[in-house]
This record gives sequence, structure tokens and C-alpha cells, in this order.
Amino acid sequence: MARIPENILDDILGRVNIVEVISGFIPLKRAGRNFKAVCPFHHEKTPSFMVSPDRQIYHCFGCGESGNAFKFLTRYERIDFPEAVEVLAKKAGVVLPKVNTQDSGASSMTTQLYKINEAAAVFYAMNLNSPLGKVPLQYLLERNLKKETVKLFMLGYAQDKWDGLINFLRMKNFNLSLIEKAGLALTKSSGGYYDRFRNRVLFPILDIKSRALGFGARVLDKTLPKYINSPETPIYTKGRNLYGLNLTKDSIRDEDCVVVVEGYLDLIIPYQEGLRNIVASLGTALTVEQVRLLKRYTHNVVMVYDGDNAGELATLRTLDIFIEEGMNVKVVSLPKGSDPDSIVEKEGIGRLKEMVSGAYNLLDYKMKILKSRYDSKNIEDKAKIASAMLESINKFKNAVLKSEYIKKLSGELDTEESALLEEARKIKPEKTYTSFNTAVQKRALNIKPTEKLLIKLMLEENELIETIKQSLQPSDFHDQRTAKIVSTMFELVEQGKQIEPNFLINHCSDEDVSQILCESMFLPDVSEQDHEKIINDCILRLKGDKLKSKKEQLGAQIKTAQDSGDENTLRALIEEFNCLVKKK
Ligand code: UTP
Ligand code: MN
Repeated sequence: MARIPENILDDILGRVNIVEVISGFIPLKRAGRNFKAVCPFHHEKTPSFMVSPDRQIYHCFGCGESGNAFKFLTRYERIDFPEAVEVLAKKAGVVLPKVNTQDSGASSMTTQLYKINEAAAVFYAMNLNSPLGKVPLQYLLERNLKKETVKLFMLGYAQDKWDGLINFLRMKNFNLSLIEKAGLALTKSSGGYYDRFRNRVLFPILDIKSRALGFGARVLDKTLPKYINSPETPIYTKGRNLYGLNLTKDSIRDEDCVVVVEGYLDLIIPYQEGLRNIVASLGTALTVEQVRLLKRYTHNVVMVYDGDNAGELATLRTLDIFIEEGMNVKVVSLPKGSDPDSIVEKEGIGRLKEMVSGAYNLLDYKMKILKSRYDSKNIEDKAKIASAMLESINKFKNAVLKSEYIKKLSGELDTEESALLEEARKIKPEKTYTSFNTAVQKRALNIKPTEKLLIKLMLEENELIETIKQSLQPSDFHDQRTAKIVSTMFELVEQGKQIEPNFLINHCSDEDVSQILCESMFLPDVSEQDHEKIINDCILRLKGDKLKSKKEQLGAQIKTAQDSGDENTLRALIEEFNCLVKKK
């Protein structure tokens, strides 16, 4: 999408209320003039996330995340900026200028890929509902799917032909190389293309916005491989999505708990029967990205493992990722040979729900498995159990939790707590899961309070900008980013523009600038009658600081000149120094 004109962004922001936007996603509580909530961007117990209706911005004092309504949407819904603009424009009733579709190559390619997948999903669904789809539809019905479920999940059928989809898509004017890029066609060694999916039931994999990214395709009999899946494409990365989340996210948030299963039908069947807070990992270990995706909706996870996979320590180890992310994770291991789908079929949804509510805490579950594998009375085995348990316990970021679990472990193994602590310290922190850059850490920008206070005052009362401009230059601000904000404000005022923090955030479109602006706006208010005194104090302070650093700089230069015996330079420097001191 082409760059959206700034006045349109301002127009949209002027018409939506950030409190309304954010409270559509998380509950906000009034706190004086502002609203507060538990921060959705990092794990915390007491609310440090603030929303200002006056300023139309938000800021978290815990992790530093801050910005305006657009920014909130991009972070919370994980959409890009133009998408957030689109969402809010619709809400505000603002018509966006038409953008030409012939824009940058990359974005038009991904748009095309979404379109191709979408068209393919339509084609496959059509097949399933046509006479061609008699057998596969029968197969799905025999697996207890209702017709409306088939429709809801947009299930389809790929005929037993080499070019069914290709012909359909070519009729729709999609080109072959793009169809191949979408992972729907393969090239023959003799040249030419053929359909990837043939004679299979198709499960479209949708993202959170219900766009088709790819497919999973199941055979109708016992042939192997049972499923084939879309390869990774520019729009589909395995481990980034969770199957079903587009349909289940609201229930997950409402229940404040998510059930994670492995297979397509392990999600679809329980969903159909009324267990709605569920997602499927599609048979692979969860990635940190998926865990963080879930974390937006809940901190409580119940992993349901098929009978054959449960009890594997390697599988359990992947769950440490939840501990690192500060989430509560429980485990259900189903009896051998069964999965959620078959449990529902044989014993009903009530039984599955029962198993979910009786799930074991991860550490208890791990202990149970370890005890079944090792003899906890034998000294060597005891050490093995201890180190396996400590591996997980060490992943807790919260020191209290860590120490409590170590205490508990010492009781269970009948071992000295001090020995366990010593062992825990020996375990090197692994960096396995932290390779992604979205980690939420406090972004400390270390801006001096004086500088932030001046920015706050200038934003709240634009008239003050003129006054301050008489006495200060942007370069008097110590931090380069605040200097940039101040010079932008000076410029805008010269152009006779009104300055709103919210608009400044769009104007600068810089993460640090946005955070500095929000941090400043959320400083405690000062009463208007104190403004003059505070401003004068701040100005003196800034000038004083600047003078001090200038003196330090000169002092260092003088020393160098002395050392090198450069009399001329030395004299000039000392003069300059004396001048500075006198000025004060
Ligand atoms: P399962 O083998 O447990 O299959 O694989 P399932 O989901 O129970 O399927 P049904 O009930 O036999 O129809 C779990 C998941 O692992 C992935 C699929 O996402 C599957 O749903 N998988 C499995 C594959 O991608 N390829 C395979 O060959 C097998
Ligand atoms: Mn199954």
C-alpha cells in the first residue's frame, strides 16, 4: 500500500477513541483521568498499562510499550501499519484514498499469493459439494463431521487429476509460476506443472484474519503419507500460526485458557461438540512465536498429547518454553492409541473436558514420568531426576517461584535444598528459545526527567513552545532523540501548526520517539500556576548540565594540551574555560 497521507491519519485518529479501541480487546479500569489494565504485552500481575483518553495514547510503565491507536492495533493484532489504518478508517467512517494495485513488487506478490490460496480453497470446497465429492464427503460424515462444520472449516476435496486446480486457476488468470510459488503446483522434470494435492481431503490453514495461507491434505484410506502439507511460502511459515485460532480466539480469551491439540480433526471435532477454546499445533513442537501468539489471549495452557507421544521427555522439554514465557502449563496425556478425536467419538466430549480439567501441572507431570522411569531411592537415579527437574525449574524468571519449586523438589526427592540450589546454579542458561526478537523487555531509554517534563509541558500547552524557544535550542537537550522531538515541535510551531502528541507519533514514526512522547505525557500533572517556575528551573537545569559537560570536555582537552606541551592551544583553551565560568 502506498504511504497514507498524514492528514488522513490525523483525521482517523481524531474520530476514534483509543479507550474504545483498546477496551475492545482488554478490560480497562478507570484510574483518575486515565484508564489502566494488566499489560497485554508482557507478563505481570498488577496493572501498569495506562491509557489516556485526553491524549489518546497508551503507555506501559512495566515494559515501555507505548503509542497511539494505530500502534496498539499493530502490536496487539500483529498486523502491519496499513492494515491497522484500514481497520480504524472503517471504524471512523473515513474513506481511504484508492491505492493502485501496481505498487511494490513484494507486497503485490504476497497479495497475489493470498488470492491464489483463497481461490484454491473455493475450488476445493466446490469440488467437495459437487458430485465429484461424493466419496470424500461421505468419508468426512463417517468421521462424525456435520455438514455445517465442513462448511465452517472450509474443507474441500482435490480430485484425482494432475491438473484440476491448475486449470481452474489459469481460467482465473493466475500465472503458473505464481501457483507454484503458492505451493499448489509442482514442476515436472520434463517441464510443465502438476497439482500438488490429488485425491485428498483438504484442510485450509487460515491465519488469525481467516486468510488462507496453505493446506493440509489427508488421504481417504490408509495410504502413506497420511497428510501432505503446503510447503513454506512467502506467506506461510510453519510455527507461526495455530490451526483454528481464527475461530477460537474469543473463546480462549473468555475462558482464559487454551487447550492445545495436535491434529486437524482433534480440533474440529471437539470444536463441533462445544469445546471452543482450542487450537491445533499440527503435529509439531510449539515455537516461541506460537506461544507468544497464545499469550495475547491467555496465560493458561493445557497441552493434550496423543497417547503415543506422551511421556517423551524430549516432548516435555519443549514445554519449558511456556515457563520461560511466564505461562502456566498443564499436561494431559491420553491413553495409548487415542487422540482427542477418538476420545470424543468413544466417550463423548464430556470425558475430554473432564480430562482437561484434571490436567497435571507440567512439573508434577514431568516428575511422574521421571519416577516411572528411574528409581528415586537409588542415589544415581535420584541425581538424574534432580537434574532433569532443575532444567525446567531453572526456566522460571520469577525467583520466588523458582525457590518454591526447588523447596518442593527437595521434599519429593528427600534431598538437601542447598545441594539442589548448587546444581541449579551450574546449569547454564540456554538460549534455545530466545532467538526471536519479539522478547518483551523493559525498553529503558534513560531520558532525563527534566527533558521529559519540558516536552510534556510543551505538548500540553502549545503556547509554551514559543517561550521555551526563546531560551533553548534543540541542541541544549542532552539526548539526541529528545533534541529531534524538540526541533520538530519548533518547526511545526513556526508553520503555525497545532501539536498533538498523537500526531507527532505518526509524524516521526520512530519507536523511541513514540516511547519518549508517551513517557513524557504520563508524567504526573503539574498545576498551571507552577508552569513558569518549573519551566525556568528546567531551563536552568538543562543549561547547567550543558555547561558542566562542556567544562568537562574542555578540562580533558586542557589536560591533553598540557601533556603534549602545546602552549598556544593550552592558552586558548584556558581562556575559553575562564569565559565559560564567568558566564555562569
Ligand atoms: P496424527 O497422525 O495423529 O493424525 O497426526 P490425526 O490428526 O489423528 O489424523 P487422523 O485422525 O488419522 O485423520 C497429527 C497431526 O500431524 C500432522 C497433521 O497435522 C496431523 O493432523 N501430520 C501427521 C502430518 O503433517 N503429516 C503426516 O503424515 C501425519
Ligand atoms: Mn486422529
